[in-house]
Amino acid sequence: MPGDKSSSFSFSTTFVLAIVPSSSGRGGYGLAFTLSPSKQFHGAVAEHYMGIFNPENDGSPSNHIFAVEFDTVNGHNEGADSDGNHVGININSMDSTVSRPAAYFIDNTEEMEELVLESGDRIQAWIEYDGNFVNVTICPLNINKPSKPLISYPIDLAPFVQNTTYVGFSASTGVKTSSHFILGWSFSTNGTAPVLDISALPMAPSKEKNRPSYDHRVIGLIAALSTVTVLLLGILICFTLYKRNVKSENLEDWELDCPHRFRYKDLHAATKGFKQSEIIGVGGFAAVYKGVLPTTGTEVAVKKITQTQSSIQGLREFVAEIESLGRLRHKNLVYLQGWCKKKNDLLLIYDYIPNGSLYSLLFDPKQGSVLNWRQRFNIIKGIAAGLLYLHEEWELVVVHRDVKSSNVLIDADMNARLGDFGLARLYDHGTDWHTTNVVGTIGYIAPELARNGQASTSSDVFAFGVLLLEIVSGRKPVDSRNFFLVDWVIEWHQKGRILDVMDTKLNSSCVVEEVKLVLLLGLHCSHPKPEIRPSMRRIVRYLNGDEHLPSIDNWDSFDSRDGMYAMFLETISSHSTTKSYRSSSTGGISSTSMNRGR
Ligand SMILES: *[C@@H]1O[C@H](CO)[C@@H](O)[C@H](O)[C@H]1NC(C)=O
Repeated sequence: MPGDKSSSFSFSTTFVLAIVPSSSGRGGYGLAFTLSPSKQFHGAVAEHYMGIFNPENDGSPSNHIFAVEFDTVNGHNEGADSDGNHVGININSMDSTVSRPAAYFIDNTEEMEELVLESGDRIQAWIEYDGNFVNVTICPLNINKPSKPLISYPIDLAPFVQNTTYVGFSASTGVKTSSHFILGWSFSTNGTAPVLDISALPMAPSKEKNRPSYDHRVIGLIAALSTVTVLLLGILICFTLYKRNVKSENLEDWELDCPHRFRYKDLHAATKGFKQSEIIGVGGFAAVYKGVLPTTGTEVAVKKITQTQSSIQGLREFVAEIESLGRLRHKNLVYLQGWCKKKNDLLLIYDYIPNGSLYSLLFDPKQGSVLNWRQRFNIIKGIAAGLLYLHEEWELVVVHRDVKSSNVLIDADMNARLGDFGLARLYDHGTDWHTTNVVGTIGYIAPELARNGQASTSSDVFAFGVLLLEIVSGRKPVDSRNFFLVDWVIEWHQKGRILDVMDTKLNSSCVVEEVKLVLLLGLHCSHPKPEIRPSMRRIVRYLNGDEHLPSIDNWDSFDSRDGMYAMFLETISSHSTTKSYRSSSTGGISSTSMNRGR
């Protein structure tokens, strides 16, 4: 249906949709309301492209397509559309300009109720555009229109939509299938869209329920819709087959269900074909490339790990972990956007963090970029906040297992972002720590971890303690077989001159009280006895001055330390692959854990 667009163009529409997944579990891929310059979407592709775009024209300004997607599968440029069940506004691209988990505001509150798009139940949607805002509202059929829209997005659509534009819907299926129904629709370019007579609308046919008896008009409508659906399906199957044939990525079944999987093609393009000049870090069996995703223009860091022995079993477990870790969100963590597997290469995609690692800022600073005390203290607080989130604030306990300066990245605002969760394992809250191989980096491994291989939140705290001393002193945790940072700081402390360990690059702008606090806290955290180490929550309180750091009187307990260090250095060398110490990784799993067949 063509609609005429004057200079101050506006529209309002409401419709009732229902998405019924195929009997075998979750369906796909969703439907979209569209404004488009033509009734045809030439070359459009199914699945995530929803029958609107294809990989070639996706993102092109010449599309002149505005769409509101009701998406039931996450996966297209996975990082962007993070929630499978979401509503988004798309302009010329499958990458939503804005997207929200499907939900509605409960009237007169700020509370939201989630709405499962593919429940098979009828959902009413409103899309309103007044020349300044696009508002999208959804709710179940049995309640009144919420007064607050789910999405209220300020935009002038005039530059994007052509003078004559068609209004309609597109839906797609693929490996996953659903039936997508529009059960009623009204549209107006002039004021509010006419109210739908809800009682006159059909139900969406469902497999289980017996069909209620419809009158002839409704049967006609369903028949028409079914025909359209069948036709669409036919076309889509052709697309799918076509795609299958030309696709170079042969995916295994399990890979298709992973929302965080990226296309190899996109990563190849993003990194200019994994060009040497794009490398920003190397370590172990991995190289980290800077990339710009062709579809969205976002900067990412792509870690490419070349496996020597690949094990699909291990990879599956690993991917399950990524799917989980991909949901971690905190301002002091590097977000793992997704992954991709290509033959023996495993690729991990992270946020690109411009200032590199804390390690390089401490030990290899560029001219004029020596960290001052304000910055260091802020970085310390950031790392603590990130670890607190991993240990206590997320739904599972995440033990990082490789806290060290090269795994702390510094963003444009000089805030710390903790990366490299590859060594992390997930534990359910309250269960015992599992015994696993010792992983970690020399100098940061807690004595009990070296002894019994039990990584815990407390061994993370140990590593954090060492990191604190490192940040203040500007010295590496282990410099040679005879220099151990923790011992060295204790020595100065026992002489009553702990401030002498301060980095000589730090100038007089230091806040002595804070420096002292951090040093003593570092010693507390890296205490050989786990029970003496504080929790991350406590640590954050100490750093904020909310609680007083108790003094440790009993430094004697450190006496056995020489034996201990010697012992765990031995443990390390028996795991010869665990030598990521010098790596300047930008996050991601270390090759170690891959090679162990995780
Ligand atoms: C969109 O929502 C905002 C915020 O609720 C409201 O102020 C505005 O009037 C709405 N615009 C339209 C076109 O409905």
